[in-house]
Amino acid sequence: MTCRLGNLLRRRGVKKGDCVTIYMPPCPLAVAAMMACARIGAPHNVVFAGFSAEALAERIRDAQSSTVITANQGVRGGKVTELKKTVDAAVQSCPAVDQVFVAMRTENPVAMTARDVAMEEEMLKEDCVCEPAAMDSEDVLFLLYTSGSTGTPKGLVHTQAGYLLYAALTHKYVFSYRDGDVFGCVADIGWITGHSYSVYGPLANGGTTVLFESTPVYPDPGRYWEMVQRLKINQFYGAPTAIRLLLKYGDQWVHKYDRSSLRTLGSVGEPINTEAWEWYHRVVGEGRCPVVDTWWQTETGGICIAPKPSEPDAEIVPGMAMRPFFGIKPVLMDPEGKVLTSNDTSGALCIAQPWPGMARTIHNDHARFIETYCQPHPGYFFTGDGAYRSEEGYYQITGRLDDVINVSGHRIGTAEIEDVVNQSSSVAESAVIGYSHDIKGQGIYAFVVLKKDDEVQGEDLCQQLRNMVSKKIAKYACPDFIQIVQRLPKTRSGKIMRRVLRKVVERDVDGMGDLSTLEDPTAVEEIIRGHLELCGKPL
Ligand code: WTA
Repeated sequence: MTCRLGNLLRRRGVKKGDCVTIYMPPCPLAVAAMMACARIGAPHNVVFAGFSAEALAERIRDAQSSTVITANQGVRGGKVTELKKTVDAAVQSCPAVDQVFVAMRTENPVAMTARDVAMEEEMLKEDCVCEPAAMDSEDVLFLLYTSGSTGTPKGLVHTQAGYLLYAALTHKYVFSYRDGDVFGCVADIGWITGHSYSVYGPLANGGTTVLFESTPVYPDPGRYWEMVQRLKINQFYGAPTAIRLLLKYGDQWVHKYDRSSLRTLGSVGEPINTEAWEWYHRVVGEGRCPVVDTWWQTETGGICIAPKPSEPDAEIVPGMAMRPFFGIKPVLMDPEGKVLTSNDTSGALCIAQPWPGMARTIHNDHARFIETYCQPHPGYFFTGDGAYRSEEGYYQITGRLDDVINVSGHRIGTAEIEDVVNQSSSVAESAVIGYSHDIKGQGIYAFVVLKKDDEVQGEDLCQQLRNMVSKKIAKYACPDFIQIVQRLPKTRSGKIMRRVLRKVVERDVDGMGDLSTLEDPTAVEEIIRGHLELCGKPL
């Protein structure tokens, strides 16, 4: 599949160095598409197939792709999504796109234009041997867009040799992977976890990898464990949000299936609370499989902190990523930029020396790369996360320090959502914050100030704003709560004090601290009243 598709891409003019955008669900052809690009030296840019047409278009343009690979439709949790239609809408604003390869994930035909290529049909005409391109170790392997605290999404650049080495090594040692194992990472290929642990890590180690296209509760909450039994999965790697959800459905869905093949359980993407960790360990893993809480980022390419590798009987503390991987030197910084050397202390998590899997730059914007990761603490890579180092020297991630929120393990910048909301003709300004949500990890709460004398009000407006966010970004970025306010709390210099808004939603009035720097402290009382009206119960 890979070779035929590689040959097809080459014949249709894709050259070494050309970036190809892939908008597909996790399916064998999607992996073949990534591998085919890698084989001919064309960097791939996989865009999560849940993103809207506009978000896709933005990424296609920024990546300067002229080739897009998609599927006619996607199938997820019993629902069909119109991927080809979304691509059609996206490429309308991407004049550089001159060909769209369309794979048939379902049997339903879709409208094809002169620009479109029936992928499987054309692949059959190709030879099944495809000469691999010779690449330099530092040539680009792929771009992957992720959200930052400001501005547009950034296309992080990963390179050939270092990334691959790091993905392979972490896959092998963090999960105790052995030849012949079946590795089950249920992340979507549209995220870095899918890249490193559904595709590159397991494949580089000659492993068998599972692609999961559905949701943890379809057709029922036993889906994961039925799959573990049927495919005899040895390592299961998933997100805390799914574990928290399944925990609520009860143990019977787990007990129904034979999980004796499992040896290691992994968690990724957000902090895992102790209750979810214990349930995962005790119920899913029958108390015999180590649970590895793995901390890393799109930027790091692979796992940087995890309880394994370590001695077989070494302690694993619930909810802690604990130990740095080979070559990773974590440091904690105080607000003044001094390295904290003692234990039992918290600070900004930085990494003190480069490692093979680190992103090399942001596509088209090296200055932003330097500014975001290197300038906050000169000489160190700044992760954007805070961490605690215990008395024993173990690391625990405490969450983002910037305005990035993590909804069900998906990163989204508050500024990105505000940008969309502010585009409404009714909105004067807005402030978006994350609040803690018992399943999603974090939920999204928007405070919105309307333009004076605007007629659209209340529910209609909120619905309109939600539709805008889902159209411009993706469904997961839609605010759960939208509170209309008269004013936002601001400093005298006009800066919105998000800290105060967070405290309102957390119902921690005492924790608001000094409000004397606010331009108008009465704004806060009004916001508290509005919040209590909107959400009777604490969130
Ligand atoms: C968060 C996903 C706590 C963190 C691999 C990081 C975590 C961001 C953990 C990266 C963890 C990831 N414990 N927080 N084990 N793993 N995070 O780029 O805030 O989608 O900066 O990469 O997720 O998200 P990304």
